[in-house]
Amino acid sequence: MMNQEPNQQLGEIIEQFIHSYIAENNNIRSRKVINTADGDTIAHLRGIGFPKKGRPIQEVVDEMRKNVYPHQTFMQHPRFFALVPGPMSLYSWLGDIMTSAYNTHAGSWMLSSSASLLEGEVIRWMCDQAGYPNTAGGLFLSGGSLSNLTALAAARNARLSEQEYAIGTAYVSDQTHSSVAKGLRILGFRGDQIRKIPSDKNFRMDVSALEKKVMDDQAAGMKPFAIIATAGTTNTGSIDPLNEIADLCEKHNIWLHVDGAYGASILASSKYKPLLSGISRSDSITWDAHKWLMQTYSCSVVLAKENQQLRNCFSTHPEYLKDAETNEEYINYWDLGPELTRPARSLKLWVTLQALGTNAVGEAIEHGVQLAEWAEDEIKKHNHWEIVSPAQLAIVNFRYAPTGLSEQELDSLNKKISQEMMTNGYASVLTTQLNGKTVLRICAIHPDTTEHEIRNTIQLLSNIARSLNETKAFL
Ligand SMILES: Cc1ncc(COP(=O)(O)O)c(C=O)c1O
Repeated sequence: MMNQEPNQQLGEIIEQFIHSYIAENNNIRSRKVINTADGDTIAHLRGIGFPKKGRPIQEVVDEMRKNVYPHQTFMQHPRFFALVPGPMSLYSWLGDIMTSAYNTHAGSWMLSSSASLLEGEVIRWMCDQAGYPNTAGGLFLSGGSLSNLTALAAARNARLSEQEYAIGTAYVSDQTHSSVAKGLRILGFRGDQIRKIPSDKNFRMDVSALEKKVMDDQAAGMKPFAIIATAGTTNTGSIDPLNEIADLCEKHNIWLHVDGAYGASILASSKYKPLLSGISRSDSITWDAHKWLMQTYSCSVVLAKENQQLRNCFSTHPEYLKDAETNEEYINYWDLGPELTRPARSLKLWVTLQALGTNAVGEAIEHGVQLAEWAEDEIKKHNHWEIVSPAQLAIVNFRYAPTGLSEQELDSLNKKISQEMMTNGYASVLTTQLNGKTVLRICAIHPDTTEHEIRNTIQLLSNIARSLNETKAFL
């Protein structure tokens, strides 16, 4: 028999963990945002090895809580403004615990009828937000990267014959997330089949350049099959001109995929939904719930306007799964995507939507948009700061640019400001590059971040910037 604690004792350890984690999470503001393991911890963890004879589980839990979990960046911290934060709701966390407890296999109706049904309900709610028809569908996947890959596989299947794979071309912008090109490469497309279209001064795909490239490719005997527009780019939150791109796709019978991994969540806000006008004309959408819908990792969705396109691409019928086959009303999710065994990722979102209600989700999203606007307002009050890309979809880019420094020195200075802020630990603000310049970037989507916290972050950045410039400690 496996070496296990008596169930009663294990139950108590689990219960105690849950209580103490919630207390810790309630107190998260007192923690530094970014925490990296020091040399002693790394040596200690490496030295543990694997015992021949098991040790008490309480000891293992204590080990993890002392030496593993504290040494991480708290993506759910209200002052984590870097990358795309992960402001998880405790309702999602609970949904995750329950789903893990039951270890639900959400591959097929036979294995998880109710969970599959609820996945369909959540997918329907999301399709409704996007304005997709009743023929639409989709499924939950691990993240935006996998959702993009899945949509692009369906696009290739729908628009190219196998003989045409070598001449298919796909179009991204210079602001498209790297996961799209990565997905295309995984699908076997060469680098020269992926066209990178420049973006305009607002970081939106330049549609005239796109149209010209499509026509040139057609004239050269290539077959344009997919255009990837972004609803909420990672750098600036910009939204590509969806209607104009949809016109082009309709004219040339090209699949339109919208990467809304970050920005599609604004569909849940009636105030900002119109910003994504045209999204209903796409063939597929990536929408990450572990970004702005407050879900724990991993929780992304790919939606397809014609669910049948996913089935055509991914459905296989091996003899060992025949007993689980159903008609289309009772979906076997393993027929719609790349995974066979899959956790029921939709349930935690269902739990969250039930507990919060859709209005509160919309308000949380509107709060994020407001936070970045407050940040921009505060930046404008301080000397020598430039807004490089104004607040949109909760993202703002800016840089400290005192006179008398070269472009290279300004890049080093802004990088150093970000590093000093990281060391300070109050908030995390990382850099990105826009128009070849290093800029600071804030992505503020945490529903609990206060106006004071976001303004204070800017003030702190400003203090750091001034003192670095005075001491020239960045050269
Ligand atoms: C626009 C966009 N697409 C795709 C991704 C990739 O998502 P994931 O990290 O969940 O794979 C990201 C991640 O930030 C993103 O911002």
